[in-house]
Amino acid sequence: MGFEMKPEKDVMELIASKNQCKANPNSVNNKKKKKNKNKKVMMTWRRKNKIDSPVDEITAVRRLFNTCKEVFSDCGPDVVPSLDKITHLREILDNMKPEDVGLTPTMPYFRPNVVPDNGYSPPITYLHLHECAQFSIGIFCLPPSGVIPLHNHPGMTVFSKILFGTMHIKSYDWVVDAPMRDPKTRLAKLKVDSTFTAPCNTSILYPDDGGNMHRFTAKTACAVLDVLGPPYSNPEDCTYFLDFPFDKISSGDDEVFRCEEEEKEGYAWLQERDDNPEDHTNVVGALYRGPKVDD
Ligand SMILES: [Fe+2]
Repeated sequence: MGFEMKPEKDVMELIASKNQCKANPNSVNNKKKKKNKNKKVMMTWRRKNKIDSPVDEITAVRRLFNTCKEVFSDCGPDVVPSLDKITHLREILDNMKPEDVGLTPTMPYFRPNVVPDNGYSPPITYLHLHECAQFSIGIFCLPPSGVIPLHNHPGMTVFSKILFGTMHIKSYDWVVDAPMRDPKTRLAKLKVDSTFTAPCNTSILYPDDGGNMHRFTAKTACAVLDVLGPPYSNPEDCTYFLDFPFDKISSGDDEVFRCEEEEKEGYAWLQERDDNPEDHTNVVGALYRGPKVDD
């Protein structure tokens, strides 16, 4: 930088020593001049210090954190932030890049890994950035073929930003007032069934629409920045599902669910899984090492 910062006292002593060779050092005029000169140098020092200081810079991840604090300040389960706040947070996330959170696709989390024999996902890494009562911020790091199985977000608003890579997202919302197939199987409407490649816009889901139940399948190595408001209170709040085509369970005799063929394509039965989520989620936590998030 070509500028060596010194404490104010040392700067004053340095200036004073340079002025010692001047004639009549004790004259009133000289004292005044010296004082003014010192003041001028100090002001210059302060101004330059202010311009060069990184203290005033705000990182992208800090901006995200501050925005989340505003957006979710008066939210809770089933309370969706206002449209203005959602738009603001979406814009912040839309512009975020892997380097803003210290990630590159060459990191070990993203290396191709052997797909287990049971057909479940290779290990996925979760980097925890922040969690409070109002919201959480985290990053899922998926190697190629990594799968986050179909799961729900009860009462939440969720922002998902793919930082890099290609990801297939399939999501559903419940069909309101539809009869249950059985106590653990409910009718859902397909919301998203598409492949996304970064850079792409942030996707948002809500408590009752936008695809509250979703599955992520990594086509290449991917990083997904996730903001949840509010976060899960405990792991049991998250339910995992298996999805079955509508007509695979509905028989032709079933008058309640009889409909046109083309209408069936947009629906599926979601059945709660009985197996232990830890057996099929394969997500491991790791320390986030990117730029500092909170205070
Ligand atoms: Fe999710």
